[in-house]
Amino acid sequence: MTDDQETTDTEDTTPSGSATLPPLRPPCERLSCHKSSVCSRSYFVVVMVFFHVYIINVIALLFYVHYSSGQEDASRSRDAQSSGHQRPESGPPPSKTEFLRDVSLTRIEGIRVGHVQKVSLVPGRVHEMRTLSLKPLLFEIPDFLSEDECRVVMQLAQLKGLMESQLMVQDGQEELAKELNLSPEEIFNLLDINQDGQLQLHEILTHSRVRDGIWLTPENLREIYAGLKADKDGNGLLSLEEFRLLSNDAFQRFLMQRGVKRSQLVRNSRHTWLYQGKGAHQVLQDIKARVTRLTRLPPYLVDLSEPLQVVRYEEGGHYHAHHDSGPVYPETACTHTRLAANTSTPFETSCRYITVLFYLNSVEGGGETAFPVADNRTYDEVSLIQNDVDLLDTRRNCNKSNLKVKPTKGTAVFWYNYLSDGRGWVGEQDEYALHGGCVVTHGTKWVANKWINIDPDYQRQARYQQLVSQQPGDEDDEGLTLNLDTHSSDIHQDL
Ligand code: OGA
Ligand code: CA
Ligand code: FE2
Repeated sequence: MTDDQETTDTEDTTPSGSATLPPLRPPCERLSCHKSSVCSRSYFVVVMVFFHVYIINVIALLFYVHYSSGQEDASRSRDAQSSGHQRPESGPPPSKTEFLRDVSLTRIEGIRVGHVQKVSLVPGRVHEMRTLSLKPLLFEIPDFLSEDECRVVMQLAQLKGLMESQLMVQDGQEELAKELNLSPEEIFNLLDINQDGQLQLHEILTHSRVRDGIWLTPENLREIYAGLKADKDGNGLLSLEEFRLLSNDAFQRFLMQRGVKRSQLVRNSRHTWLYQGKGAHQVLQDIKARVTRLTRLPPYLVDLSEPLQVVRYEEGGHYHAHHDSGPVYPETACTHTRLAANTSTPFETSCRYITVLFYLNSVEGGGETAFPVADNRTYDEVSLIQNDVDLLDTRRNCNKSNLKVKPTKGTAVFWYNYLSDGRGWVGEQDEYALHGGCVVTHGTKWVANKWINIDPDYQRQARYQQLVSQQPGDEDDEGLTLNLDTHSSDIHQDL
């Protein structure tokens, strides 16, 4: 095309470029001749511009057609991205309803340790809420429950009947080695954290502190070594050869033969569950409403959470440090949304965004709630056991915990077991939320737990809410009856 244009241009200029003088023409004609060469250039420019505009129009049209047909997909993918899931635009359309995130969870600000804020929980009264730690975000509210309310909750729990929080271990469990399908060498290598070819006591305990619900202490281990003549050179370390001599369930069998006491379990208490929905005792409904005001979360999230758990520790009772909630992995499902999730996931954990713990009595001796690593500068699982001191052991080492809360009748403490995802939803598990109940040295201890269940996966939570709201007799925790079997067993996450 450009070539054509040039040719035309050349032809036009030839006459004016001739050597012979042309006959005189009127000035206007000369002008037009001169003009025509200028005109051909502008013609070229006009054609070029037109051509480019044409191309741009075609491209714009193609874009328009593509966009209008893919609009639905695009808006879906925007939503999926905002909920942290990646969906390729060219992929198949989602088969299930995707929910737009229209909720932002309130998270109460701690400001600084010791900060006191006034909160309005009951008409005509003001409560004080003190920040106890920032990692985890933890608060204390004295007189959250009245004396009468504490009494009613304990009586209702007794009427219902409490059961052992942890059953005694049964003999003849499946061998660990068979379950794991690992050779002694492989297990040895996994446990040998510093890879020095020896197993130090803390290396064994960090990864196998709990064997079938039995809490192992460094002394237990030494006793087991001696009983099984495992540590031949008696240096407290196991070489691979010494380790190989132990069968994989040697620890369990040894403990069984010696007999296991309740105090050797992870948890030594009794508990029961009290429903707080419509028709429940007014005190239970009032407590639920107050928790909703305290946490400033949407009421339906509190309504759809687990019932109130009431726990009683006898003298000597304890609960070693644990997390109330599990870590967030893609392959982990939450117990409360599992049925609605419509997927089979290999792991299941309780997803308890918030724990509200009520002290129903003042304990005569011990029984504090310990937060071993609260506001620690760093969190390092391995350093939780050092020099035979296991910070998770609440029978022995509560005095070494960073924070201890003394049980006082009517006081509530509450904390977040998860961080925020920064966009108004539940984020990662907060490792600093590790806590336990110190051994009760005098008297009994009564506490209640109100857990607020939220799935870190927004879509799963939304689907669960939709499913429950479709069931007759919805609106409160009765919708959770299906899940209660798992709730009533101990589903706390132990390290
Ligand atoms: C619990 C718990 C602490 C306590 O029941 O999950 O951590 O002080 N209790 O009893
Ligand atoms: Ca080692
Ligand atoms: Fe707990």
